Amino acid sequence: MDERSDNDNASDLPGPLDPGRFRQVLGHYPTGVSAITACRQDGSPVGMLVGTFTSVSLDPPLVGFLPSRTSTTFPLIEAAGRFCVNVLSADQEALCRDLGGPSARRFDHAAWRPSALGSPILDGCVAWIDCEIHNVVDAGDHAIVLGRVRSLDGDGSRLPLLFFQRGYGKFSLLSTPPAASAELISQLRLVDSVRLQMQALAEDLGVECLAVSLIDDEMVVTGSAGRPQNRAVLTRLGQRVPLVPPMGAAFVAWADGGSVEAWLSRAAGHDPLTRERHLQILERVRQRGWSLTLDRPGVRMLESAVFHLPDAAGPEGHTEVASVLSGLGDAYEPVELDEERAQPVNNIMAPVFAADGSVALLLALYGLPELMSTSQIEMCAARLQATAGLAARAIADARA
Ligand SMILES: Cc1cc2nc3c(=O)[nH]c(=O)nc-3n(C[C@H](O)[C@H](O)[C@H](O)COP(=O)(O)O)c2cc1C
Repeated sequence: MDERSDNDNASDLPGPLDPGRFRQVLGHYPTGVSAITACRQDGSPVGMLVGTFTSVSLDPPLVGFLPSRTSTTFPLIEAAGRFCVNVLSADQEALCRDLGGPSARRFDHAAWRPSALGSPILDGCVAWIDCEIHNVVDAGDHAIVLGRVRSLDGDGSRLPLLFFQRGYGKFSLLSTPPAASAELISQLRLVDSVRLQMQALAEDLGVECLAVSLIDDEMVVTGSAGRPQNRAVLTRLGQRVPLVPPMGAAFVAWADGGSVEAWLSRAAGHDPLTRERHLQILERVRQRGWSLTLDRPGVRMLESAVFHLPDAAGPEGHTEVASVLSGLGDAYEPVELDEERAQPVNNIMAPVFAADGSVALLLALYGLPELMSTSQIEMCAARLQATAGLAARAIADARA
């Protein structure tokens, strides 16, 4: 065995590591903030804040966190043999400061209920994960605690509290929401009148139903109902996507010739073949009556690229989006659905028509099952179209 210490080995390293610098550099990594809670034998709650909570394994379901060897709370949690991870939300900064304070006062203002295993679940968290201690592993001046997950739940309507460079903050989307305009307000009113239909469909199918409006040549997510099963939900409300082919086909398929030409002109290629391909996409959407995007890796990349463009709506943004889109093959509006194989679906969209036959807005299904057979896709599309029909009637009633 090599008996040299780490420092003997350091001849080719810059010198002994300064703990301050270690902390300072590692502080560049942002974390969420979780409260690890447990109950003493007398039923009183104990808890400590950690930034080291992490998901570890799916099979078996394990999560972990790293308590310091100097922690006075961790031995109490270890004695309980179980703990609950409470992922704090952005509006729980005051509770967070209590939980980071003297241990006797940490629960003074906290509302909580016991989990199935008896550990405190704090009211208002983004998520809680109820665990039994699976293993405690040595890790220098910390330990790695692995917890076997017994039950868990999350609240998709809350945003998490974040910790970065000794300060608290919250998550924000890089894409800026659309500026308030008369058109946006009138679209939001429209979405309000179809909310019940969206909710009923989302609940029925166990998916997320979005309303998508066309505002100044951009598709804007103006409404959302329900939450997808088995998936983390990040709100898409306010997200904007420029109308660049083949995106937005469900809007353009029923638009006038001038709008179709404007759409075609934003594509990366202006050759006859590209033009023909996009015209065929419009034809396919018109014939189906709905629009389909498969979940290819490129589609996710595109989604995140588009959302992160500072000005996707400007001409430069259009060019960038168009060049990414040109590499996506037939993920958008595939020619034929494979009858034999289940396929991953990103979204299905259907138009809600106004009384004059124009498209008032789109309804979109997201968070669909990971893989769908052709008949499942067609069933969901038919349900979506039926809901779009009800929504069209609700809009007409609201306008009457
Ligand atoms: C944002 C934040 C993250 C923290 N993360 C950890 C952590 O991962 N592990 C840890 O041992 N202490 C962490 N601490 C410190 C503990 O919350 C607590 O101060 C420490 O455990 C001492 O309290 P105790 O003696 O009651 O355990 C963190 C504190 C804050 C404010």
